[in-house]
Amino acid sequence: RTVYVNGAYLPEDQATVSIFDRGFVMADAVYEVVSVLDGKLIDFDGHQARLTRSLDALEIGNPLSDAEYLAMFRELVSRNEITDGMIYLQVTRGNPGDRDFAYPDPDTPQTVVAFTQAKPGLADSPAARTGWKVITVPDERWGRRDIKTTQLLYPSMAKMAAKAQGADDAWLVEDGKITEGTSNNAYIVKGNRIITRELSHDILHGITRAAVLRLARESQMQVEERGFSVEEAQQADEAFVTSASAFVMPVVEIDGAAIGDGAVGTVAARLREIYLDEMR
Ligand code: PDD
Repeated sequence: RTVYVNGAYLPEDQATVSIFDRGFVMADAVYEVVSVLDGKLIDFDGHQARLTRSLDALEIGNPLSDAEYLAMFRELVSRNEITDGMIYLQVTRGNPGDRDFAYPDPDTPQTVVAFTQAKPGLADSPAARTGWKVITVPDERWGRRDIKTTQLLYPSMAKMAAKAQGADDAWLVEDGKITEGTSNNAYIVKGNRIITRELSHDILHGITRAAVLRLARESQMQVEERGFSVEEAQQADEAFVTSASAFVMPVVEIDGAAIGDGAVGTVAARLREIYLDEMR
């Protein structure tokens, strides 16, 4: 694989970052995941806009222009001959030399790395036909989940808890309401209404979420942005999640309780189709 590090395209085994880098020592870094379908970047502009917001929120300088990120992504797709897959991009506050809680001088160059992962048949995932089973766990992350940082240990722990119970993912619960999944936004469906938590610091403002809600409204579905409890979700007609890598993924079971008849719901299936048709 050819990867990108600070302006250079290198074989992955020659790409290195300092052990003093704040991304490594402090998780002082933000990231984006962009899907590639048929060689095409999915919603690059949306992800680019959020990258800028995450960097601004943390006062990390942005070393590249949007056009430079786009050119770099295209270069990686081409060099690695990616048809279906994803691009991972990470920007850190760089290498200050010494470990210190205070941010280094703003002139310290940021570290930018990016790599591709091939995922043949990504849009035709068999899981989309059977749906995911999710468990619920307390949301014990920090309070600025709207910033896409690389502090991913708690979501990893939640994913492992799900796997240990034979489930596909975990939904995180705070003050009796679901915030989101480990790496996706969470939804339920009641009749013609799609319900998903409102935007705040409590959840990541999903780029797929924005596109799916727009497409749902354009398709005359009703959208209600509010929190919902585990009990309300278990009694809903349908459930699903959205993310750059899962697109629209139906959820058929929550904490062992089947949603609706336990099969993939028609609204989730339709939204997945509409989203993929529109974006690719
Ligand atoms: N995760 N919520 C969380 C906590 C996420 O980590 C993600 C994305 C989302 C969905 O956002 P988007 O639609 O912009 O991908 C919601 C990525 C895919 C990841 O960490 O791999």
